Amino acid sequence: EEEEEENLSEETKSSISSLPWEIDYLGNKLFKYQGYWYYEDILQAIPNFHKSFQPQETDIIVAAFPKSGTTWLKALTFALIQRSKHPLEEDNHPLLSHNPHEIVPYLELDLYLKSSKPDLTKFLSSSLSPRLFSTHMSLDALKAPLKESSCKIVYVCRNVKDVLVSLWHFLNANKGVEWGDFSQSEKISGVDDHSFEAMFESFCNGVTLYGPFEDHALSYWQGSLEDPKHVLFMMYEEFKAEPRTQVKRLAEFLDCPFTKEEEDSGSVDKILELCSLSNLSSLEINKTGTLDGVDFKTYFRKGQVGDWKSYMTPEMVNKIDMIIEEKLKGSGLKF
Ligand code: A3P
Repeated sequence: EEEEEENLSEETKSSISSLPWEIDYLGNKLFKYQGYWYYEDILQAIPNFHKSFQPQETDIIVAAFPKSGTTWLKALTFALIQRSKHPLEEDNHPLLSHNPHEIVPYLELDLYLKSSKPDLTKFLSSSLSPRLFSTHMSLDALKAPLKESSCKIVYVCRNVKDVLVSLWHFLNANKGVEWGDFSQSEKISGVDDHSFEAMFESFCNGVTLYGPFEDHALSYWQGSLEDPKHVLFMMYEEFKAEPRTQVKRLAEFLDCPFTKEEEDSGSVDKILELCSLSNLSSLEINKTGTLDGVDFKTYFRKGQVGDWKSYMTPEMVNKIDMIIEEKLKGSGLKF
């Protein structure tokens, strides 16, 4: 059995070396696979996931491009679907003692990265029913094993300029962290100054982990139009502007709408408060905890809409807006 995994990985490795590649703003080699850019180790996780993931009818997957509100969506979705097992007012609610990333695993980063038979019981959300997973992969990369299943996918999208600013802060706050297991691809040293300009250019060219951003967003947007019962497309900005409406929309999509009694007893607000940036970031676990070298506190910053205005020149704004407009033309998607 072990040998089989070994072979798969050798086979994958040799096919990886024939893919187009670029060096990203961190000095890491990114490979382009079926339209999207990945580090080598994540590329090995995708075939593992495709080959071995066995969806259950009730599975839920929360998806986002990095820095679009993944942590928030993980927390909200977990709190929503487990509210009968874990009442929101419970003193020992799992979200009070665990970071959302410890509860809800990434399919490609936590589960299938090194294994085709991951231990799902290692994470709370994948060992309960309904099972809850997450991913940064595009819908194009995610959907193959889900074809015949009725599982539900929730995507949160965010303004690309705020995503870029958020990512820049996150990478700067985690400078010592290695973002991949680079066995065959040498790490180019000396790129430790995470220049905003360099990141901006990469975003404009689409060459960024899991990018291009617009294709990523469009994959879920189109998925939600084609199959609205199974793919829900949400916007971070809408969540900020009208959290009660959006969390109710999420609950309805997940077939666990708030009852009249719940609404009357303030459950909607309780969920929002439990998962709020101010609450989560003030918890001891999120102030001091770490996972794979990343301090949990770096997942919580400002959560401000339009923070990009303090970072981008008018020329930058113009350039990226034009690119986005061109890519989204005719799709009906706007952000
Ligand atoms: P900023 O850097 O703009 O503040 P991700 O979870 O996908 O890594 O995204 C991180 C971004 O979401 C950060 O944005 C972070 O502050 C914001 N965020 C994290 N938790 C949040 C929450 N509970 N509510 C709203 N925004 C949150």
